[in-house]
Amino acid sequence: MRLLTSLKLQLLLCAMAVAGPTAAVAVTKALSPQENYEKHCVDCHGADGKGQTRLGRKSGAKDLTDGKTIAKLSDADIFKTIKFGRKNNKGEEKMDAFADGLSDQEINALVAFVRSMTK
Ligand code: HEC
Repeated sequence: MRLLTSLKLQLLLCAMAVAGPTAAVAVTKALSPQENYEKHCVDCHGADGKGQTRLGRKSGAKDLTDGKTIAKLSDADIFKTIKFGRKNNKGEEKMDAFADGLSDQEINALVAFVRSMTK
């Protein structure tokens, strides 16, 4: 009986040791889609998604709240735009690529976030 209790205690300590650091990493590493949007996208697309910022007008950023534009795009299209960016037909960059800065998981979450801005 006593053996069992100490075994349980050991298991518990073990679980805490495993859960502790991983939980902390999760908190510091993965940003919420909202945070990622504010960090990487607002300069061009604006906090409201309408793209009426200085850089947004200059680059021709799309209005992310415009249902007609966004509804035509599949999740895969939006994913690719965020991951690989957009160039115009002269090969000049219009929208940055985020393949290096964001994980696929974060990009997927941003796809859903963009859809949620659409009216
Ligand atoms: C340097 C300015 C800039 C930044 C930063 C930027 N975008 Fe864009 N975005 C654009 C431009 C310009 C377009 C329009 C591209 C076109 O018409 O070919 C666009 C288009 C889009 C589209 C329309 C998708 C499509 O396939 O047409 C989505 C969705 C989008 N951006 C989301 C984002 C998200 C999410 C971020 C942040 C991770 C982001 N953008 C950061 C400039 C930017």
